Amino acid sequence: MVKIAVLVSGGGTNLQALIDAERRGEIRGGELALVVSSSAGAYALERAAQAGIEAVTLPRREYAARGDYDRALIALLQSRGIGLVVLAGFLCVLGPEMVAAYRNRILNIHPSLIPAFCGDGFYGLRVHERALAAGVKVTGATVHFVSEITDGGPIVLQQAVAVREDDTAESLQQRVMREAEWKLLPRAVSLFCEGRIAVDGNRTTILQGGNEP
Ligand code: GRF
Repeated sequence: MVKIAVLVSGGGTNLQALIDAERRGEIRGGELALVVSSSAGAYALERAAQAGIEAVTLPRREYAARGDYDRALIALLQSRGIGLVVLAGFLCVLGPEMVAAYRNRILNIHPSLIPAFCGDGFYGLRVHERALAAGVKVTGATVHFVSEITDGGPIVLQQAVAVREDDTAESLQQRVMREAEWKLLPRAVSLFCEGRIAVDGNRTTILQGGNEP
């Protein structure tokens, strides 16, 4: 069983999608073992408590340098035997030490079709505001491995979502979460835990499962 840590900063709806998927038996080969929050007030902590998952708050501002934060995070993850780290609305950028310690074992969900509307400064509602400003007809979500380049690591899964003419950034954000993020993230986590994601440079291949056609 791969032990999974989910890193959060806010509401935690993606964490909830993982909890619900695990309950339905859809996270094959993995178990949610730890939730780490960068903020003591994150509602995601409540979700973890309700699901009986150990939760630890690690506030970024209490560490002078990013390297110190990374070291504390790595020590925590290693002490719990974590094999997969999932960033689910985690608002801190991980440093090179953390990325190297968990190379191709950190998954992030981003609310656009990478390489559109991603990189430094593209988070939360801003991503959807920029998509609307650009006039795209299709957006979506991407699950990718985390590398040293913001939103630049190997792409694992993508799901397109149609933009409506009357969409606001808020309505688009909600639909991207409902139609794409909450489905893609549990699926990618399960694929990882089943050992079905092969990585070659910046490209991934999804390996066929035993009971699939
Ligand atoms: C999601 O839109 C996710 O794509 C982004 O941050 C948001 C987190 O929402 N990285 P939640 O905390 O999972 O509800």
